[in-house]
Amino acid sequence: MDFSLSEEQQFLQKTARDFAKSEVLPLAAKIDSEHRHPKELVDKMAQIGLMGVAVADEHGGSGMDCVSYALAIEEVARACASTAVIMSVNNSLVCDPIAHFGSDAQKREWLPLLAQGKKLGCFAISEPEAGSDAAAQTAIATLDGDEWVVSGTKNWITNGPVADVCVLMAMTDKAQGHRGISAFILPMDAKGVSTSPPDDKLGIRGSKSCQIFLENVRLPKNALLGGVGQGFKVAMTTLDGGRIGIAAQALGIARACLEDGFEYALQRRTFGKPIAEHQSIQWKLADMATEIDAARLLVLKAAQLKDNGEPYGKAAAMAKLFASDVANKAGRECIQIFGGNGYVTEYPAERHFRDAKITEIYEGTSEIQRLVITNYMRKGG
Ligand code: CAA
Repeated sequence: MDFSLSEEQQFLQKTARDFAKSEVLPLAAKIDSEHRHPKELVDKMAQIGLMGVAVADEHGGSGMDCVSYALAIEEVARACASTAVIMSVNNSLVCDPIAHFGSDAQKREWLPLLAQGKKLGCFAISEPEAGSDAAAQTAIATLDGDEWVVSGTKNWITNGPVADVCVLMAMTDKAQGHRGISAFILPMDAKGVSTSPPDDKLGIRGSKSCQIFLENVRLPKNALLGGVGQGFKVAMTTLDGGRIGIAAQALGIARACLEDGFEYALQRRTFGKPIAEHQSIQWKLADMATEIDAARLLVLKAAQLKDNGEPYGKAAAMAKLFASDVANKAGRECIQIFGGNGYVTEYPAERHFRDAKITEIYEGTSEIQRLVITNYMRKGG
């Protein structure tokens, strides 16, 4: 078994690490406190190839693999979880389904714009009454001549307030249940599209999310992504890949907890010595470091399976389930190491704690990951 990274993977990891350290980290606390979309960082990520890591060269992307993508997300998330999820959604939930299910014309039209940061994408499956039960779509798309007419409401759409384009799920034949769902590419400036004010969130406050309202939005017939009735498959396949990105984001947050906690423990003194010399603190740091390494192995395994064209849905769900749990535990322990200083915004610990929580919720809650894993087991996967 070979755990080493290729030269190309190491290069992207270093590029992302240097960028995260020098450009993202200095802004992270401010982005969070101002609840601000970091457009300047998104533009810079595009310049260094992070907005379309696995998009083919011919479509304007970096032409790299999913392992490289996961490594880059971890680095960005270590500095700022908000910036990392903006990148993750654009890569996994927008570029990926267009690359895999799009027509040649759709790939030519959208991938270069998305990969080069000229447009930002979002993904809309969730609705007020369709979160975990993703098949319970009520947004409707009906064919009227040569156009689709779409109406409905989408919820908690990451990047929604700032997105230019949306991969959208809507019901085209309600009688068919999940087989009646279709996917569309929706330009966010289409007539009839509006958004709510951004959600006021516990964490990842620099990542803007909102509701999207669709009122008789007319889309050309060729806005369909994949075939009629293929939307649930498009969405589930997309989320399998997306979960690798969120697992890598969780890993980055956990690493921030460990590195910041360790640095603090070396400085902070109690009972005449640095708290890093107290066994109670050493145990916390050792457990965090061990769990982070285990989480990284799961993330990279899922990414490598995807790169090898092997089934990766179960591995992706396991990686997200485990890494998000590790991030939340690390968030708690980080605050505990910082003590009173962990509870105030002057130090980064409380931000990591708040940012970690969402990784157990979006792109499928931890309960849904367990369901996905056992579904694969029941099918012999
Ligand atoms: N890949 C391809 N096809 C899949 C699949 C997968 N991973 N999982 C299921 N399917 C197919 C099944 O094979 C089945 O196909 P057939 O009709 O041909 O038999 C069909 O989909 C239905 O499968 P299920 O009966 O298992 O579907 P279900 O209705 O019971 O739901 C679920 C399954 C796993 C619970 C699914 O609803 C789910 O993943 N829910 C969570 C949704 C989610 O992750 N939402 C996140 C929103 S996006 C977000 O958070 C983005 C953001 O802003 C950051």
